[in-house]
Amino acid sequence: MKLTVHVNGASYTREVEPRLLLIHFLRDELRLTGSHWGCDTSNCGACVVWLDETPVKSCTVLAAMADGHRVRTVEGLGRGGDLDPVQQGFAQCHGLQCGFCTPGMMLTARWLLDRNPDPSPAEIREALSGQICRCTGYENIVRSVLWASKHEASMHAESMHAESMHAESGPEASRPEASGPEASGPEASGPEASGPEASGPEASGPEASKHAESGPEESGHEASKHAESGPGASGPEASGHGAAGREPWGAGGDDAAREVPA
Ligand code: FES
Ligand code: FES
Repeated sequence: MKLTVHVNGASYTREVEPRLLLIHFLRDELRLTGSHWGCDTSNCGACVVWLDETPVKSCTVLAAMADGHRVRTVEGLGRGGDLDPVQQGFAQCHGLQCGFCTPGMMLTARWLLDRNPDPSPAEIREALSGQICRCTGYENIVRSVLWASKHEASMHAESMHAESMHAESGPEASRPEASGPEASGPEASGPEASGPEASGPEASGPEASKHAESGPEESGHEASKHAESGPGASGPEASGHGAAGREPWGAGGDDAAREVPA
């Protein structure tokens, strides 16, 4: 059968066997090997990817079920060359050892933070309860997600501050000097205004194209960030990706006190 799946923003059309599992489609057909295939029995969670906005164990999903849908894998977690805060958190807090469980852990953590930006350790443990790590003892995984949560909050505060500073500086631009004689005087319409400087290489040169390039990309990135964390992202189904009924691992609850490296 022929199917088209939109993976990390790109569309892929392939002829596949109807019985092909999504994890094998991603790894073998698309060569996206960041998603790991661990148990094949829906236990370990190493194969977790997003199907539309929901984390799923891709060893339990047929590739055919993803036809026409969006899939996000760990390769699509970072943006424009920057690591996602969750990835940074795992690096900062030593959230991995062998790394086999890590891609699935990070995708579920991203899903959690999009819905609950300030989760408690117990909430993190519950969200990740369907995924097994045989190396870390989970403590550092919880710290990694807390680190991401804390840093996203401070990044948000910084951008709000920058926006308010920008708004406050607005009246400056309409001061009388801006519309005074200098602005409309001969200098403004003189040869300098239409001279080579105005249309010269500086105006159309690398600097100009640099600005032109950075504009749309920046807004596009922001827009897609918001789109991904938008309302479509809330669904109770998402909690079903975990091992159904499994107790949150680690009995400590809030034991991973919020002592997260800065
Ligand atoms: Fe273990 Fe999918 S490979 S749950
Ligand atoms: Fe090795 Fe989790 S880091 S299985």
